[in-house]
Amino acid sequence: MTAIFADAAMPDDRRRTLIYQGNIFVVAPNAATLALTEFARGLLEEVFSPHHPTRAQYEMPVERFVEIFGPVKPRFIHHPRTKDLVRDVVEQLGADLAETYIDVPRLRGVTSDGYLTAGAGYAFPLHRDVWWSAPLAQINWWLPIYDFEAESSMAFHPHYWEKGISNGSEEFNYYVYNATGRAQAAQHISRDTRKQPGPREPVQPDPQLRVVCPVGGIIGFSAAQMHSTVPNTSGRTRFSIDFRTVNVSDLREGRSAPNVDSYCEGTSLRDFRRGTDGAQVPGELVARYDSGEVPEGAVLVYEPTSR
Ligand SMILES: [Fe+2]
Repeated sequence: MTAIFADAAMPDDRRRTLIYQGNIFVVAPNAATLALTEFARGLLEEVFSPHHPTRAQYEMPVERFVEIFGPVKPRFIHHPRTKDLVRDVVEQLGADLAETYIDVPRLRGVTSDGYLTAGAGYAFPLHRDVWWSAPLAQINWWLPIYDFEAESSMAFHPHYWEKGISNGSEEFNYYVYNATGRAQAAQHISRDTRKQPGPREPVQPDPQLRVVCPVGGIIGFSAAQMHSTVPNTSGRTRFSIDFRTVNVSDLREGRSAPNVDSYCEGTSLRDFRRGTDGAQVPGELVARYDSGEVPEGAVLVYEPTSR
């Protein structure tokens, strides 16, 4: 069973337990989430001016759209304000910043009507983030930057919570991916040739859950939850922010979502930084969750270039 908890007040550890059991949280807008989304809106509106970012795709060829949108993503990631704004969001969620490690947030755009189908605007088919070496204790947080509809949302597929499927995670090594797969994402326009550990058998997207919330709302779910980006048919580009958290006591105690079908090598735990002071996850914990080989030339931590 998957329940959706709407603006449910409870201690963070109780919420994490429920998320590790496959439940989904949606939290109402607060000052911190509104500040983060307003900041992202400012960056988008500046570069797409005089067009509105959600309608700019109808005003320019796709190559131009990629040229404009591609550089905003690293700019958002590396902007000195972003980290503080995300930390405020985590604090407002009631998490203990001394125990919570946060990765860098991403800015995503999903264009409407198949305008941009790969790279910078890629709509992910059904997947679990743990297939990409995310820890099973990872919680994903997702915020819309503009109001959106069920036609441009994420979808959850909770019937796969306990049901494993054949997927490419067994051939996936995070450190090889860091070295080879990530760097050229923005260059892909129509065909995505990057190796992705997706499903290897026909998937059944239905029944599916789509959660719609206003700007400043935030959706939290387990990295083991099967989810996808629905093909956007809303007539507007959907822009969103997402970031991930892990709680260090859960790592220590081995509390997490169950693993039903993830066989990848490596761990993304080195990407996370402690909320209070930016410290890395302690090395002994990273080692406990690491697996497989570090092949020659592989990269432990991917540093997105700031362009
Ligand atoms: Fe995902």
